[in-house]
Amino acid sequence: MTRPPRLFAIASYMRDLSVVVDRCPAAGETLVGRDALEAPGGKGSNQAIQAARCGAQVSLLAGVGDDNSGAVARALWAAEGIDASAVGVFASDPTGQALILVEAEGENRIVIAPGANQRLQAADVDRARPLIAQADLVLATLETPLAVTEQVFALARERGALTLLNTAPARGELPPSLWALTDIVVANEGEAALLTAGAAAVDPAPLAGGDPQALAEALLRRVRRAVVVTLGERGALLLQPGQPPRHCLPPAVAVVDTTGAGDAFVGAFACRWAAGDPPALALRHGVTAGALACTGRGAVPALARASAIAARLPDAGERS
Ligand code: RIB
Repeated sequence: MTRPPRLFAIASYMRDLSVVVDRCPAAGETLVGRDALEAPGGKGSNQAIQAARCGAQVSLLAGVGDDNSGAVARALWAAEGIDASAVGVFASDPTGQALILVEAEGENRIVIAPGANQRLQAADVDRARPLIAQADLVLATLETPLAVTEQVFALARERGALTLLNTAPARGELPPSLWALTDIVVANEGEAALLTAGAAAVDPAPLAGGDPQALAEALLRRVRRAVVVTLGERGALLLQPGQPPRHCLPPAVAVVDTTGAGDAFVGAFACRWAAGDPPALALRHGVTAGALACTGRGAVPALARASAIAARLPDAGERS
């Protein structure tokens, strides 16, 4: 492809408030943390920004409040060169917020209050139709209403664009109608386990640790083109119909904060897949971007530029 790939994202946006702690507080306990950080976040927006930093031409649909955080989001997207002309500003709800605890080893625990993200509906999709019509690939997460994702994916399919669903945050089974519109799914181990465990499961933690290839095989029965199971510090596994699995290990990095690492993977992987890279190379980009996102505090502030990803690409290795 000679032009930049065109991506459209249903971009959940959150104002992230993050604190580093030595351990998580017990019930009723007040704990002293450090390095408090307020920064832009939201899985969909993080992914859109990572894709833009990788060279994609990005447009998005998002719902923000009529407040300062919403204005910060719009200024951020403009600064990143992202077309946010279809964004909905809702006076009824505040911009989404996320409270994040980062443990000393960089592991994160996140609670979101989605606010205006949940206000998106059919009329907003109508406003975004011209942007969806131009896209090569459409991205969605589970932080925005599923009905909106289905509508956008259906429009993308009509136009021949690929659809990529990132199944974060974790939840149980998804509607078959959404799976039918999904070409590529990216899930972490806990999400993949929860999605394939049946309706009774509610907590992804005890389910993680299963065989990633078995999880990928189960998910591949639901989508058309590819499954990626992300494995944290063990990289990611890609499975396509009729192809052997590919497992890519990340470059070694000094981990500071893992917030947004999965989003970095999705944004970089989607950009390179849409650009026409061989899938194994797109996987390598995703894994490298994910590792680099762990080297700084916060989600957006730590998302790497294309040049930094390219410099570490040789250090990401395929495991047979
Ligand atoms: O994936 C990281 C993101 O999850 C954070 O930026 C937070 O906003 C939540 O959406």
